[in-house]
Amino acid sequence: MPLKTVTVVGARPEFVQTAPLAREIASRDGITGGLVHTGQHYDYEMSELFFSQLELPEPIYHLGVGSGSHGVQTGAMLAELDRVYLAERPDIVITHGDTNSTLAAALSAAKLGIPVAHVEAGLRSWNRAMPEELNRVVTDHLADLLFCPGQTAADNLRREGIATGVAVVGDLMQDSLHWTMRSIDTAATLDHHGLRPGEYFFATIHRAENTDDEARLRAILAGLEKVAAVHPLLLPAHPRTRPRIRDLGVPPGVRLIDPVGHPEAMALVKEAAAVLTDSGGLQKEVYWLETPCVTVRTETEWVETVQVGWNRLADADPSSIELAVEAALAERPDHPDLYGDGHAARNIVDHLLTFARN
Ligand code: UD1
Repeated sequence: MPLKTVTVVGARPEFVQTAPLAREIASRDGITGGLVHTGQHYDYEMSELFFSQLELPEPIYHLGVGSGSHGVQTGAMLAELDRVYLAERPDIVITHGDTNSTLAAALSAAKLGIPVAHVEAGLRSWNRAMPEELNRVVTDHLADLLFCPGQTAADNLRREGIATGVAVVGDLMQDSLHWTMRSIDTAATLDHHGLRPGEYFFATIHRAENTDDEARLRAILAGLEKVAAVHPLLLPAHPRTRPRIRDLGVPPGVRLIDPVGHPEAMALVKEAAAVLTDSGGLQKEVYWLETPCVTVRTETEWVETVQVGWNRLADADPSSIELAVEAALAERPDHPDLYGDGHAARNIVDHLLTFARN
């Protein structure tokens, strides 16, 4: 009998991560897969657009959970996932990243005695005020197989006493990036936005810690305004951020647009003078595309990108943001390979098949 996997996704970064894994599972013998969409992200630009652009298979279940407080959202997912797992009886549940969907996928499976594989295991910001940090810590401690993007993540797990089932496999987002880059038309994308290569900034801001605190968001917008005095700044806004920025006023030079799909985002990142972001996944994509990055947070899980000099942390403070961008533009350090070689999907399926045999 082939290993029956069920992969749970719900938020944008999980769609990007799971696409190459779904393709790999479909192409290999001895393993089958189905996707469950929790419905955490439901706007067209946040979900459906990604499914079609990444050629993701139709989910076998769409739970339609939608928004709510963390407890309400996660609890609704748990109730629905119990039902799905009992009906499907997977041999293993695969969960990605650090969202509420990630946690619900792992918790429901673990309580039903179904093994859990956590992809992007071992990441730590060491900041327990972040909902994502709580989600990843709990998920890692529930998981049977822990797939780490790099050695730092595996070391983090060992420090927490997790030693078995851990494998360093690289990062699925890099697999996804390679696939997406084959089909993007960078020139057309820049034309569409009226931008010239190297003469604009690309920014995303959506973390609760930045958007839910008016003083922080004001300070970030003031920082973006300073940066946008040099080149125009394109700000595709997550639905969480859009109304909040509109309320505070869009700064001059900043172009607030709807969220963009993955190929469009990658084209815009590739040719930007620099990227400013508080996203997790984007920091790596910016690195692989060899664009300087400024992360508007006090810490990052992707420490290697900072260590090699391509990513800088900036607090929510206008001059800290401006100085970080100036420094980012001034330097072109060496660019070593980070987080694998774009074959994480193959490595993960190899480990899953070994797990099935044992
Ligand atoms: C989630 C993840 C975050 C990840 C991000 C990527 C958690 C705790 N956080 O944050 O780690 O970086 O996804 O995008 O899981 N909303 C819409 N339309 C949508 C989705 C959300 O309007 O399609 C609104 C909701 O009503 C809510 C807000 O956005 O007000 C937050 O959505 P939620 O799914 O709770 O978390 P994200 O902020 O997207």
